[in-house]
Amino acid sequence: MAEPGKTKFQIDLRRYLREQGEDRNLTRVICEIAEASKYIVNSIRTGDLGVAGTSNLYGEQQLALDVLSDRIMRKRLFHSGVIANIVSEETNDIIPVSPDCEGKYSVAYDPLDGSSLVDVNLAVGTIVSIYEGCDLMQPGRNQVAALYILYGPRTTLVYSTGKGVHEFGMNQLMEYNLLRENIQVAPKGSIYSPGGQRNLYTPGTEAFVRELEEKGAKLRYSGGFVPDINQILIKGKGLFLYPHLQGAPDGKLRLLYELNPMAFLMEQAGGAASTGKRRILDLVPENIEQRAPVFIGCKEDVARAEELIAAHG
Ligand code: F6P
Ligand code: MN
Repeated sequence: MAEPGKTKFQIDLRRYLREQGEDRNLTRVICEIAEASKYIVNSIRTGDLGVAGTSNLYGEQQLALDVLSDRIMRKRLFHSGVIANIVSEETNDIIPVSPDCEGKYSVAYDPLDGSSLVDVNLAVGTIVSIYEGCDLMQPGRNQVAALYILYGPRTTLVYSTGKGVHEFGMNQLMEYNLLRENIQVAPKGSIYSPGGQRNLYTPGTEAFVRELEEKGAKLRYSGGFVPDINQILIKGKGLFLYPHLQGAPDGKLRLLYELNPMAFLMEQAGGAASTGKRRILDLVPENIEQRAPVFIGCKEDVARAEELIAAHG
């Protein structure tokens, strides 16, 4: 709660976490990531737009900004003293930080999602998933926290520790102040963000998207997962899909770094996230690079996608 004379907008992230009674080490993890984002945002604004000359586990060309953002995140997490293991979309393995798991956290992250949009000056983000202890290969429902940072015209941080979803905005001093508490999405929406090539959609997905269009849903797709999800959360309605495609049965997006954290946030906001067949947060990861199709957003829209996929594939 705000002190008398102070508006809610002046509550910074650390203080908010403390007031929510969050564990000290977890608060530390989240605040270290918030610190890292200050350097990442600076790199995005001013850094080299070229390629790094390396590729990641998915064979995607790494940009200098991907590699730099990854190093910034890793360094801060390493030095925080509260991390057991980390794994990133830009590294090939789980990186052990401390053998001692007690009271520590493990973190999976995508340091700069949508990085190929930086040269065209569209929004990008950092996505983070946090588990207690050492184990990063757990179903996403066991996350203790998830968050993303959106680098758009403004920089915002949206997190949940399982007690609702809260948004913070970066101010001129690069501090994060509370913008919105307990963000909720409506049961049904009228915005859709369809990822993947439409001519490769399976009949169930095609029927679902056609139905949304017939109902007058508006297309809102930026090509960046973080801004697309943020739009749904902040507008309080909508659905994002990156479905199974003909020739790509697992879609594109990655379970550990992209889907689990966003599914956790969406469920916390009263929405849902499904592969089209089952809940994302119940998937047991088999490897760190695992992908899955996703339908995420308003609960009734996700349920309708599941129905049509069950009927038509
Ligand atoms: O790496 C993930 C990502 O860049 C997301 O941000 C975005 O939703 C998706 O890929 C877009 O993929 P594509 O343009 O290859 O279909
Ligand atoms: Mn990504």
